[in-house]
Amino acid sequence: MQEKILVVGSSGQIGTELITELRKIYGSSNVVASDLRKPDFFELDGPFEELDILNPQRFHEIVKAHGITQVYLLAALLSATAEKNPKFAWQLNMDSLFLVLDAAKEGLIKKVYWPSSIAVFGPTTPRVLTPQYTVMEPNTIYGISKQAGERYCEYYHQKYGVDVRSLRYPGLIGYKSAPGGGTTDYSVHIYHEALKKGTYECFLSENTTLPMLYMPDALKATIGIMESEAAKVKIRSSYNLAGMSFSPKEIAAEIAKHIPGFTITYKPDSRQQIADSWPQSINDDEARAHWGWKPGYDLSAMTADMLTHLKAALQSS
Ligand code: NAD
Ligand code: SER
Repeated sequence: MQEKILVVGSSGQIGTELITELRKIYGSSNVVASDLRKPDFFELDGPFEELDILNPQRFHEIVKAHGITQVYLLAALLSATAEKNPKFAWQLNMDSLFLVLDAAKEGLIKKVYWPSSIAVFGPTTPRVLTPQYTVMEPNTIYGISKQAGERYCEYYHQKYGVDVRSLRYPGLIGYKSAPGGGTTDYSVHIYHEALKKGTYECFLSENTTLPMLYMPDALKATIGIMESEAAKVKIRSSYNLAGMSFSPKEIAAEIAKHIPGFTITYKPDSRQQIADSWPQSINDDEARAHWGWKPGYDLSAMTADMLTHLKAALQSS
């Protein structure tokens, strides 16, 4: 049967890139992009629907009109933005998930992808090589919504047989799209500023180590778990996923190998407190063992690739 995919929140950091990858696999006309707004900077070579995911009627109309079989739900408020508007963050992050899970429960769609985050962990979680199963007491509204979302995903799978799949993304880094209000956003901004100005003022302190993942690996994991046989996806809350871990000081040193003289300064803001509550590194043994996850990029390979692509984009603009 031909799969028909709806990506909700397709104009954001992940959606912009995921749409392109999904269209390569399933064909442009079978992957429907949807968001509040059209994307700023990529060619739409397939269907786009304007959708506020808080409008259930519009969501159902789109699902029916396109015969949608799978939904990737990416619309959310991320950690830093959510702290500024906690009530709305809870509404958006939770109501959108309920809507999509209920559509699967009612048989309107067959499969759901919903990303969780390292933000499900909190200050009482062991911070080094954080295991899949451990203490989870998140203290940000974003982390609380992701943890509740994970519980709902597992519940809908166990109670109603909903085929929902999820990954706890670390901070994601890519050259094609801008990050959307998270605590890890500095790790994208730093490359742009290094090339444009040769210097960067970081909003986290120099030794704040966080888990990160390069976008090609994130896309590989996302499509990988969605295409795995259902029996291999044994965890239906969300899988730990690791790529690399580094601090602002370490990424700056790596960039300086390519841009001699690059300097970094530190001016921690409210995002520091969020970062301090998150793990420094992640143990992803279950994802590796169950459905064959393996990352391809470390800090050095990612930095070389990011700078090559960003330099080329700057030269052609
Ligand atoms: P983003 O903020 O870049 O993109 C989110 C998109 O959702 C935006 O284009 C926005 O316009 C859209 N959106 C917002 N409200 C909407 C609504 N009511 N209806 C329809 N669309 C709406 O976020 P992202 O980085 O692409 O993240 C996608 C998902 O991955 C989120 O669930 C996020 O929590 C999760 N995640 C991201 C990261 C990361 O580092 N980027 C890490 C962990 C988890
Ligand atoms: N990159 C995300 C954030 O900082 C992690 O979920 O919010």
